[in-house]
Amino acid sequence: MIKSRLCDLIGIKYPIIQAGMGPFSNNNLGVAAANAGVLGLLSTSGLTSRDIQPFVYDAWIKTAEANSDDDIPTAIDKVLKRTYRLVKDKGGVFGINVMVAAEMAAEAKIIIDAAIRVREENPDMKNHFKVIFTSAGDPVGWKDKIKGAGFTWMHVVPSVKGALRCKKAGVDVIVASGHEGGFHTSWEPVHSMILLPAVVEAVSDEKTLVCGAGGFCDGKTLAAALVLGADGAQMGTRFLATQESDFHQIWKEAVVAAGDRGTLVARGFVDRPAG
Ligand SMILES: Cc1cc2nc3c(=O)[nH]c(=O)nc-3n(C[C@H](O)[C@H](O)[C@H](O)COP(=O)(O)O)c2cc1C
Repeated sequence: MIKSRLCDLIGIKYPIIQAGMGPFSNNNLGVAAANAGVLGLLSTSGLTSRDIQPFVYDAWIKTAEANSDDDIPTAIDKVLKRTYRLVKDKGGVFGINVMVAAEMAAEAKIIIDAAIRVREENPDMKNHFKVIFTSAGDPVGWKDKIKGAGFTWMHVVPSVKGALRCKKAGVDVIVASGHEGGFHTSWEPVHSMILLPAVVEAVSDEKTLVCGAGGFCDGKTLAAALVLGADGAQMGTRFLATQESDFHQIWKEAVVAAGDRGTLVARGFVDRPAG
């Protein structure tokens, strides 16, 4: 079995991160992934859409054992307790994906504060809810809150410049996401084969781990990430196409049917492109 420093750092069996994929919660996917021995990530971006996209919020809370009139801290409280309950007997490890783009920073703070509070209430939750994974914004400024509460901190970047910013911020695991990554991607078409070894070279050391993202989807591509110097791989599209994910059946089937030219990059939200 392939093991890496990522496995040792957070106590998972396989060096794989099941990517956070908003706007849906993927609460069931996170549980299934954690119980299968990879890092399961719950996505939180849908929690910010109660007023503007109530159908997204309703879909989010449906698998969180929460209610549509719950506020964000209450919904976070409920989903974390539910996830803990469902993974603890199998030793599953999970985290939350929180977008920290400037436009979403206020909500990100509310989400992270609520998560810290819930974890503090139950010492055993710390053995399972181990990771805060930030994305889509500048990591600098979040260290005291996230590391201060004892979480392993992961952050995703599309460039060496972004990786150096993570290093400055004190991120534990830097995820280098190439242009072929699903949904959020960079404007510049720097692909994983180029980006990942460059980020490894720039920032990997005894305290800082690097994982690849973008196009990693099976054992072969995971092995490639490790050979390129990474400590693991984050996989999104691959997990989107599972029975447990919240995405529509049509999307899942399109992923399975897609060929080599099946990727389309268009304008996404928070002013970034989306693959
Ligand atoms: C449908 C979809 C939604 C996504 N939403 C988010 C998100 O809310 N936050 C985030 O950090 N990354 C998000 N991502 C990116 C993933 O976390 C991950 O980095 C990416 O999927 C990796 O590339 P891959 O799809 O080739 O495996 C999303 C990806 C997909 C496919």
